[in-house]
This record gives sequence, C-alpha cells and structure tokens, in this order.
Amino acid sequence: MAHNLLKGKRGIIFGALDENSIAWKTAERVYEEGGRFVLTNAPIAMRMGQINELASKTESEIIPADATSEEDLEKLVTQSMEILGGKLDFVLHSIGMSVNVRKGRHYTDEKYDFTTKGWDVSALSFHKVMQSLYKADAMNEWGSIVALTYMAAQRTFPDYNDMADNKAYLESVARSFGYFFGKEKKVRVNTVSQSPTPTTAGKGVKGFDGFIAYAELMSPLGNATAADCADYTISLFSDLTRKVTMQNLFHDGGFSNTGVSQEVIERFSE
Ligand code: NAI
Repeated sequence: MAHNLLKGKRGIIFGALDENSIAWKTAERVYEEGGRFVLTNAPIAMRMGQINELASKTESEIIPADATSEEDLEKLVTQSMEILGGKLDFVLHSIGMSVNVRKGRHYTDEKYDFTTKGWDVSALSFHKVMQSLYKADAMNEWGSIVALTYMAAQRTFPDYNDMADNKAYLESVARSFGYFFGKEKKVRVNTVSQSPTPTTAGKGVKGFDGFIAYAELMSPLGNATAADCADYTISLFSDLTRKVTMQNLFHDGGFSNTGVSQEVIERFSE
C-alpha cells in the first residue's frame, strides 16, 4: 500500500542486480511511494543483470558506475542531478562482494590483494560515494543516506569471512561521515543491519541455507525479507525519521537481541 511518503524526492539507488536484490525491491517501493531515481551498478553487473527491466518499470535512467572509482562516482552524481532536475534527497548503498569468499579462501588464509579489493568494493566505496555527494553539494537538507550491513560486524559468524571486517568498517564510516553530513548539510546517514536474505550476495556465503533456517527459528518475528527491508528503508528516506542519524539499525525480526529461542532449544532436546 503506497502513502506517497517520497513524493517529490529524488535519489540514486546502487546495487540492483536481479529481482532478488534488496536494492531491486527498494527501487520498486521507492517508485510506488512517489520517489524518482537513477539506477546504478558496476558496468560488469549491467551485462549479467536484468536492470533494464527494472528501469523501464520505474521510469528510471541507468548510469553505470564502479563504486570504487572516484571518477565514475563524480560523473554519476553530476549526471543524476541533471537527469532528475535538482539536488538529491536519498541514496541507497546496497553493494557487497568479497573476493576471498568467492575464491573459497578461509579467513585464516586470506590473500590480501583479494582482501583489499573486497574492502574497497564493500566498505570504502561507501566513503567514496558520500565524499562525491558532499563535494558536489548534491544532497538537499534533510536528505537521507542508507547503506546495508550485517550483524557479523558485531558478533562472529565464521563463514562470513572478511565481509565481517568490511561491514565493521562500513558502519564506522556511517557514523564518521554522518557527523559531518549532519553538521554541515543536515543530512542523515544510517546503516540497516538486515537478516540473512536469499540474494546473489547472500547465497555466496558458505552454509547459507542452514544459516538462514537457523536465523528464522531464532528470530521472534522471523527473518526480515528483502521486501521488508525495502519498507524499512522507505521510512528512513521519508520525512518521518529526520532526526535519526549515525545509527546502525537492526532489521532482523529480533534476532540480534535473542539469546536463544524455544524452537532452537527444542531441537537440542529431541
Ligand atoms: P546482490 O548480489 O543482489 O547485490 C550486491 C550488489 O553489489 C550487486 O548489484 C553488485 O553488482 C553490486 N556491486 C558489486 N561490486 C560493485 C562495484 N564495484 N560497484 C558497484 N556495485 C557493485 O545482494 P544483496 O543481498 O541485495 O546485497 C545488497 C547489500 O545487502 C550488500 O551490502 C550486502 O552485504 C547486504 N546484506 C545482505 C544480506 C544477505 O543475506 N543477502 C544480509 C545483510 C546485508
């Protein structure tokens, strides 16, 4: 059900690869709520993904940009303002990739070139995106910037590998940049810490099926889906959350504050 929560707002959405992507669901919901945006992804992902379909459904233009390239990001920000006819109100960073995970390298056997690349894509890119927006003075006052993260930043999940460290860095960047964006431009910056979700990035984590089933049993409200995550992000882009900033917001059905659930205990009492 749409409420026109984002009527008249403009933004950029990073990371819609296919219809399972959290960014894809978010783009659909933003459109429903009256927001208009530019879609962007890495040039390579454009060839693999179905982003054209999403663009036509949401009357959006696509600008390819590698989120690790300052040059690409500068162009993206300038062109987006031209296309959308003004400064921006919201930005979604929905980007993650670990080369160590992809190549099956264990956390105790990292190849550091892979580590650096994964950190650049998954974590430093958030700083690069915000610095490009900041320097171009591209955000309207009371705008909102959101990045997606995972609880492995706080607690150890062995197979999450170096993405845990990348997420810890990403969350720290949200706080640090959130200070300056708040002070200077009245823009808020938050991370949403989402339940395990069956997407291309999610399913890349070893043991994902067992892990998502475990999280479902542990969470009093059940796992948050990609569609639920889109709804939550809409609230953060809307004017109803203007004073929420520099936060890591758990969106996980209660998983992060549950020690153990009755269902999990019962599994061990059988
Ligand atoms: P996804 O695989 O659909 O999205 C990841 C996106 O990152 C893809 O669109 C990919 O093309 C993009 N990307 C990779 N390298 C890039 C680069 N150099 N420049 C620009 N874009 C690049 O998977 P999902 O799950 O929707 O991931 C979105 C975000 O949600 C990520 O930050 C992920 O870590 C986070 N997240 C995912 C969870 C899950 O279980 N799926 C749980 C918690 C957080």
